[in-house]
Amino acid sequence: MCGIVGYTGSAPALLVLLQGLERLEYRGYDSAGVALVENHHLLIEKRVGKIRELIRALWGKELKATTGIGHTRWATHGEVCELNAHPHTDERGEFAVVHNGIIENYREIKEELEKLGVRYKSATDTEVIAHLVALNYEGDLLSAVLKTVSRLRGAYAFAVITTKEPNRIVAVKYGSPLVVGLGKGENFIASDIPALLPFTRDVIPLDDGEVVDLRPDGALIYDFEGNLKTKESMRVLWDIISAEKGGFKHFMLKEIFEQPRTVGDTLKGFVSRDYSLPFSLKDFRRVLVVACGTSYHAGLIGKYWIEKYAGVPVEVVYASELRYSDSPVGEEDLVLAISQSGETADTRFSALSMKERGATLVSIVNVMGSALDRESDYTLYTHAGPEIGVAATKTFTAQLVVLYALAVSHSKEKESLMDRLLRIPHFIEEVLTQAEKIKEIALKYAEYKNAIYLGRYLSYPVALEGALKLKEISYIHAEGYPAGEMKHGPIALIDEKMPVVAIGPKDRVHEKLLSNAEEVLARKGILIGVGFEGDEKFKSLCRDYMGIPPVEEDLTPFLTVVPLQLFAYYMADYLGLDVDQPRNLAKTVTVE
Ligand code: G6P
Repeated sequence: MCGIVGYTGSAPALLVLLQGLERLEYRGYDSAGVALVENHHLLIEKRVGKIRELIRALWGKELKATTGIGHTRWATHGEVCELNAHPHTDERGEFAVVHNGIIENYREIKEELEKLGVRYKSATDTEVIAHLVALNYEGDLLSAVLKTVSRLRGAYAFAVITTKEPNRIVAVKYGSPLVVGLGKGENFIASDIPALLPFTRDVIPLDDGEVVDLRPDGALIYDFEGNLKTKESMRVLWDIISAEKGGFKHFMLKEIFEQPRTVGDTLKGFVSRDYSLPFSLKDFRRVLVVACGTSYHAGLIGKYWIEKYAGVPVEVVYASELRYSDSPVGEEDLVLAISQSGETADTRFSALSMKERGATLVSIVNVMGSALDRESDYTLYTHAGPEIGVAATKTFTAQLVVLYALAVSHSKEKESLMDRLLRIPHFIEEVLTQAEKIKEIALKYAEYKNAIYLGRYLSYPVALEGALKLKEISYIHAEGYPAGEMKHGPIALIDEKMPVVAIGPKDRVHEKLLSNAEEVLARKGILIGVGFEGDEKFKSLCRDYMGIPPVEEDLTPFLTVVPLQLFAYYMADYLGLDVDQPRNLAKTVTVE
């Protein structure tokens, strides 16, 4: 995590850096900083907290420097303080570095350099890069950086500037994302495309093991051996408006409301291809789904659909748990990696190590050109557009579209099964018309300290997702359980102070869910229901009820999750919390 940005051209670099950083803030917001080369000096400004603190510190300063780098931090090594904020410099203050990722062997390098008399200022792993580049510098920044990377282990992207070559940035990608932006007489780097969109749409996503030598009049890309590479640029088609709030108070709310369109857009991707896929699940012994967070929950729902329609056994594993396991994986397996960003280190590295063991790697990603997209044998895209809110919403429902399409692609009735999805955008719209009512319900529970979410079958992963949304943005302790499992332990938690959100659409387990709801009531728990409109029996058990239009069992997760997203959103907003950038989190986690 962390976001990095760089500019070299003829405009004031600071303006570009600050705008870029604001768009990268979703990657981390513990501290922020910039370094500019001005009159052969480095000008560095850092602040703890969000980018706005940095902007305040720079307010009114006329900084004309035309080359600079910037950083927004999600702390990995060293506490959150100004000293540990990036950019970091060498001892003489001639080289400045911003870095995203982890240098695993930094201790070893640090001890070695300390023996040579180098004094460290911060507790970060990043600082070793600045010292190494300075020691390796013999008149050419690119050579110094190439020498430096040969010493580094880990996953990283970093950028370096120096007072000795004022109009030059050298940046490296190895494991963490980095994109080059091409302009006229000016060039850019950033961790992600949205940071470049105000300035250019022509980008080159770097691959691991590449270095870019950026100057105002060109961007040359080399491998780690210093061989020049030729790479095509690509044109980004998203418009900048889709990365703005568009009148909504928060990105998260905007993204929840975008779901009718994003589900529709993702669906169109399949319609235009006649629903056909370039591979068949049936050719594999099993499907191994790897993902983290919300994407993992989408995978759990996909399991039910794939097993039902393709008849192939599916295992869904947390990516961080799979990577170091001895799970027997081979050519007979299809690994399905699900990731909004396509950059999550846990997901990427575990999927890649399964690919090395012979598995076919298929991924579902939202960010075209992301690492996972490029590393997979096949990619299926969610067309949700940029998702800025740290808590995932629209990408979850878009992932469900792809998973459902993937599952039913094996069915003889695939066209009619896919046709059912065409109504989902309209049904989501109906749920969204209930937003005010859901808000009223949410406000009643905002002061509670705990919540339990229960569901069975397809609603169990929805319960997990609902609970995750609540903890992520409202910091209320919430857990999701399979409703039938509650009696084996969690039921001990139920009393008159425990809100229990039961997700109970009319499906094959509806009656069982109602029995579990009764068990909650018998222990004086506060029951909040999510179920079909018109299900008076369920509604009569609940203190509050959030209705969704009745749909076929298979499609219920598309709708039941929406009231839960809104429920969490309104609670967090009422509590005055930072909905789009909740504490301790980052949208894209590129460390293990
Ligand atoms: C982070 C985010 C979560 C997200 C997870 C997986 O932890 O805070 O919201 O679900 O990463 O992200 P991905 O980009 O791989 O879907």
